[in-house]
Amino acid sequence: MTRVLSCIQPTGVVHLGNYLGALRNWVRDQHDKDVFHGIVDLHALTIAEEPGVVGDATLELAAILFAIGLDPDAATVFVQSHVPEHSQLAWVMECTVSFGELSRMTQFKDKSTKREGKFISAGLFTYPALQAADILLYDTNEVPVGDDQRQHIEITRDIAMRFNHRFGDTFVIPDAVVPAAGARVMDLQDPTSKMSKSASTDAGCVMMLDDPKSIMKKFKRAVTDSDSEVRYDVAEKPGVSSLLDILAAATGRTPQQAAEGYTQYGPLKVDTGEAVVALLEPIQERYRELIADKGELARLLSIGSEKARTVSSATLNRVYDNIGLVRP
Ligand code: TYM
Repeated sequence: MTRVLSCIQPTGVVHLGNYLGALRNWVRDQHDKDVFHGIVDLHALTIAEEPGVVGDATLELAAILFAIGLDPDAATVFVQSHVPEHSQLAWVMECTVSFGELSRMTQFKDKSTKREGKFISAGLFTYPALQAADILLYDTNEVPVGDDQRQHIEITRDIAMRFNHRFGDTFVIPDAVVPAAGARVMDLQDPTSKMSKSASTDAGCVMMLDDPKSIMKKFKRAVTDSDSEVRYDVAEKPGVSSLLDILAAATGRTPQQAAEGYTQYGPLKVDTGEAVVALLEPIQERYRELIADKGELARLLSIGSEKARTVSSATLNRVYDNIGLVRP
């Protein structure tokens, strides 16, 4: 059976880009494939937070993952720090990737430039090695992600192939799976930048838990283009195309189909906002029930982490054996 793995950082807010680009595809796959999904709390340590912040965000994110429809009986949902093999394999990955390769990662360049003058952790630089460990530990065939993660999956493939070449067949080579619509949800106030917690103003980023009124307000205020023609053209009309992308992803059509019938921006903004509200409202309702019982969330996560360990510990043993380390 095809093995799927993907992860998300508990950084406090989950936004529409996370949902349309990745999370909902996790739900789609869960009954046909063998799926593993990690809440990667160790990755979140690359940017310093006050004590307790990452832990709270981990439980909130777990509630969102179950609220969107991940079924704990079908999907293995785990917390990265509960599965020590991630950190253990990450060191081997750091010794398999080069300084030059890590220096070419656009995410590191972006994030470190934005943090100029502030503390830049070594973990921010070696982040892709930990991500490679996340993926390779599970003999993963497919990694469903948004467009921004392509480079991280590419470097994971390079690391895996290099390791296999040196130490014999050890890792499965994974493929990135990026959705046709929603792979790159853009900031509503700056449609040339991707929607993200750090880059966006509040008005440009739609959070999964935003109430319907603020969602509608954000869409009504979305930046569009100078003329008034509704047409999908990312280069010439980034604002309108970004709305069409979201409308298409929310209603299961192509952006070109979504554009049909519109002659003005106003109705397009309202319809896109309403489609997103319809998508998020039932999720928010389930979220409120789930977050009320943190004990139950913790129980579900420990079952997932236990299952994750059975796979990850076998892989780590294979790695150490193939390298030829003396085993205890
Ligand atoms: P993260 O936590 O930033 O985002 C989680 C998922 O959401 C997707 N995404 C988007 N998709 C479309 N439009 C957007 N504006 C947008 N913003 C985010 C991301 O592509 C991602 O799929 N490094 C990863 C986490 C990670 C991981 C892994 C992923 C760690 N280990 C192993 C896959 C496999 C990250 O920071 O994603």
